[in-house]
Amino acid sequence: MTSTTQGFGIDIGGSGIKGAPVDLGKGEFAAERVRVDTPEESTPANVIAVALEVLQEFGWTGPFGCTFPGIVKRGVIGSAANVDKSWIGVNLEKELTERTGQPVTVVNDADSAGVAEDRFGAAADQDGVIIVTTLGTGIGSAVLHDGVLLPNTEFGHLYLAHHKEAEKFAAASVREEKDLSWEDWAERLQEFYAHLEFIFSPDLFVVGGGVSKKADKFLPLLDLETPIVPAGLKNDGGIIGAALLAAERAA
Ligand code: BGC
Repeated sequence: MTSTTQGFGIDIGGSGIKGAPVDLGKGEFAAERVRVDTPEESTPANVIAVALEVLQEFGWTGPFGCTFPGIVKRGVIGSAANVDKSWIGVNLEKELTERTGQPVTVVNDADSAGVAEDRFGAAADQDGVIIVTTLGTGIGSAVLHDGVLLPNTEFGHLYLAHHKEAEKFAAASVREEKDLSWEDWAERLQEFYAHLEFIFSPDLFVVGGGVSKKADKFLPLLDLETPIVPAGLKNDGGIIGAALLAAERAA
């Protein structure tokens, strides 16, 4: 199925691989998404096989976008914090293009969610500097200035004052593993967001990731100058942004 008003996005995550056709004009799914668990051994061969399976579920032909939970430079994977290390150096864009015969755009997962939030989500009416963070297995980040993305910012790997990487201290997975109360987790998030606020003077923080559905439990506990709001597209921004970026590039 190909359509000029529809695109397709795949979101590769540490725990799930998800895909859906996207209505490019509305910035929403055009059909219910499909999700498959990320293979335990998250090697390129295993993960690519699942991503292609998701694509085939919809019989999609045409340009599509795909996210990756690490640095992506010109289609090549540059880091793999939460998936198999053998990803580093793989040209995922080339690999997927060769396997499908379609034009493919590969983008960092948080950058993709950031673009989607900026166009259709919580930042749609805000110009200036927007910082979108995703709280999940790791912490992803996207920075946009007046709609233009500065890719691969990787704020989840900032070292905070106690010499711990932000995502090892404050990701949503850390809250679950350590069974932290919302208050205790919010204290950790406070340290992270206050640091970002001081360095970047953003106009808006947007908080994505699955836990953003429970934003009322922790966002009101944060004390920041900058407005901080949950993602408007919930956890769907990765898929939506990838589809948007792929369609733009193809055009
Ligand atoms: C990775 C980022 C990614 C984030 C969320 C981090 O560990 O380094 O590239 O955006 O996790 O998946």
